[in-house]
This record gives sequence, structure tokens and C-alpha cells, in this order.
Amino acid sequence: LGKKLFYFKEVTSTQERVHALAKEGYPHGTVVLAGEQTAGKGRRKREWSSLKGKGMWMSLLLRPPFPPAKAPQLTLVAATTVVQVLREFGVTAKIKWPNDIMIGDRKVCGILTEMQAEQDWIDYLVLGIGLNVNQNETEMPGELKKKATSLYIETGVESAIEDIVSCLLNRFEVELGRFYDKGFLPFQQEWQSSGYKTGEWVDVSTWKKPWRAKVTRIEEDGALTVLDEQGQEQRLYSAEILWND
Ligand code: BTN
Repeated sequence: LGKKLFYFKEVTSTQERVHALAKEGYPHGTVVLAGEQTAGKGRRKREWSSLKGKGMWMSLLLRPPFPPAKAPQLTLVAATTVVQVLREFGVTAKIKWPNDIMIGDRKVCGILTEMQAEQDWIDYLVLGIGLNVNQNETEMPGELKKKATSLYIETGVESAIEDIVSCLLNRFEVELGRFYDKGFLPFQQEWQSSGYKTGEWVDVSTWKKPWRAKVTRIEEDGALTVLDEQGQEQRLYSAEILWND
């Protein structure tokens, strides 16, 4: 990973850059990093605040040799890697299914996976990781003040973004190899200790009105299993969970 790495002082979104490079035929492992994004993208068409020099705004081009159904697992492999990196930088973080990384009840990192696929093979994946690194409390946008945090806010020390990038790329290469060799099982097990609110009650909002559920585990296909109030297990794929934080 990162044998081809592009750094831009300013882009609209590193995701868009990687989509363009993918279409030009760039290889697996190509990385785009930006100092600042003017139109950072979050999941569900939300914006992603990407202040200049304050975070790791990065997208990776992946061309994995497996079918589209495995993409959700890959996002969880990336999330596990981010948790390891944060541990190395001194904080304990949890994975809020499917792809947020939390420190306490505040979000420090978001992951956005976009896929270009045919029925049974992946043309390419763009894996975007936005990690808040050096923002202080006043630099968090108003509505995020209570919901978001950064490595600096948690530890009181500033970190060099390039150190985080190299740590992440090295580890992700190892974890990706582990995923190719051993499948998802090791990551499923890791989830038990790093899953956000495992064993706790939350509200789940699917097509009907929100219902109470207890978070139990992650499945081999990346689904989240919860227990409803009748004690029945339910597998969730893309439900919006109201995490009650
Ligand atoms: C989310 O939590 O909703 C996902 C946020 C993903 C943000 C990253 S920052 C780098 C990459 N470029 C983008 O425009 N978005 C992702």
C-alpha cells in the first residue's frame, strides 16, 4: 500500500480523486492524502469537516480479489486497523458498527467505503478514512462540539500526520493480508473487545418505529446481531442504529 501516494494541499474530496485515478487504471494500494478538503464527504450524503492540516484525510484505492459481498467485512478490517493505530498513539477506541471509531462517546474517525462492482467481482473500492488528529475544542464545528473528538483533545499532545499515515498503511497491509489468508474470523473475535456498546441496549430504526435491542456480536458476513426485547436474535445489515449517545 502507498507505493503510489499523492498529496494535495487542497482538494474537494480525496474520494473523488481516487475514483478518477481508478478509472485511469492506477493499481491497488494507490493513496491520496489531502491537507484540506473543501467538500469532504461523509456517509449518507453528509458533509465531513476537514480542516487544513488538522486531520488525516485519506482515501485508498483497493482492488481486492473477492466478491462485492465481502466489502462490509473489509470496512471492518479497516476499522480494526484504526483502533490499533490509535492504541499505538495512546488511546483506547471502539468500533461503532458499521464504520465509526469512537473514543468514549465521541467520534474520532469515520470510514467511507465506495464500491464499483459488477455482479460477482469488484472493479475497485475507494476506502476513505477521516481521522481527527490535531483539532482543539474550539476548532470543532459548533454542532460537532459534543459529538466529535480528536487525538489531541484526548491526549493533550499533537501528532505528526505523516507518522499516523505510515503507521496506518503498514498495519493495514498486515491486516489485509490476514484477512485474505484467514478470512473474517480473527476480526469477528477482535470485535468482542472493541465493539462500541457491546452488551448494551440501544434503539434500532429500520422500516418500523424504533425498537429496543441489545448489541451482541458481529457475524462472519459483517452483519450486526442484536437481541430484541422478545429475546429473538436479529441480524442487521444496514439499519440505522440510534446509539442513544
Ligand atoms: C463518515 O463518518 O460519515 C465517513 C467520513 C469519511 C471521511 C473521509 S476523509 C477522507 C475521505 N474523503 C472524503 O471526502 N471522505 C473520506
